[in-house]
Amino acid sequence: MPILRADACAIQLAAAALSEGRLAVLPTETVYGLAADATSGEAVARIFEAKQRPSFNPLISHVADLEMAERFAVFEPLARRLAQAFWPGPLTLVLPRRAGGVHDLVTAGLETVAVRSPNNAATRAVIAAVGAPLAMPSANVSGKLSPTSAEAAAESLGERLGSEALILDDGPCPVGVESTILAVTEGRLRLLRPGGLTVEAIEEVAGVKVESAATGKIEAPGQLASHYAPGAGIRLNADRAEGGEAWLGFGPEGGPRQDGPLRRNLSPSGDAAEAAANLFADIRALDQALGGEGRIAVAAIPEQGLGLAIRDRLARAAAPRES
Ligand code: TXA
Ligand code: MG
Repeated sequence: MPILRADACAIQLAAAALSEGRLAVLPTETVYGLAADATSGEAVARIFEAKQRPSFNPLISHVADLEMAERFAVFEPLARRLAQAFWPGPLTLVLPRRAGGVHDLVTAGLETVAVRSPNNAATRAVIAAVGAPLAMPSANVSGKLSPTSAEAAAESLGERLGSEALILDDGPCPVGVESTILAVTEGRLRLLRPGGLTVEAIEEVAGVKVESAATGKIEAPGQLASHYAPGAGIRLNADRAEGGEAWLGFGPEGGPRQDGPLRRNLSPSGDAAEAAANLFADIRALDQALGGEGRIAVAAIPEQGLGLAIRDRLARAAAPRES
């Protein structure tokens, strides 16, 4: 499948394909996404097929701006304030849905809809050209690592998308973990998935605490225990690699950024933003070096700021797998 540099011509081609109900892989600041016109049931169904995704999982609708979002989501004042402060950016808001705006498959029959405006110029231009919101989950087979480069997306989905589907290449994703998902209801905020925007930043603008989501009920597949799973196992909070393990460090004690095929450090300076941007690519590289077997020992990551999202993804990558 063609990987095209995300220039004006490629943007037009992607917009044309999406307008005809086909899929395209698009860059965002968080991870690469597999996009379809969110108003077309047939197009959205192709996403579930390509990802082998359980169809009860609703998708995020990506918009060019707040105005497009208000066509299908109801913004209370707090939601509008957050969108104005953080869009375009890695914040997904779960809001009451307006009838008729996006196809039922996108919301999986829920009364709410998840919406965000991604911070990538090429993808924003594609959305504007299509003139409709795009449903866009991460561009990987369900349950596997999210792609943070065009090559990783091609590797994960290439065969399943067919030879015609376009991938727009805009280099590595600067944030590297998926958006923070926040439910907004009557002035209250609930964290459904930690992600690329920190809870601290949200609370500063909102002036209210972000509550953690009620446990027990799965509201986002990111909340499934095993997700983001590489072939190799993951051992958390490790001090060092033991007997054949690969090593993924963090901070000054963790070694150099790269030290041979089996040793990496997410951020030698201990910068959580750098670590988040490197997370999926590093796990992918170590997993490949291990041949998808054995184990990756991962250093402890502090819980503040983006560390929360990194720890969340690592815990799910480490969880026992169903198959
Ligand atoms: O950064 C991101 O959010 C990336 C890029 C491509 O934008 N997208 C992404 O999408 O991570 P996906 O499909 O992998 O994750 C979407 C999450 C799922 O966990 C889904 O359950 C949740 O959003 N979600 C969607 N609609 C929802 C709703 N109405 N209520 C609760 N959760 C919802
Ligand atoms: Mg995903």
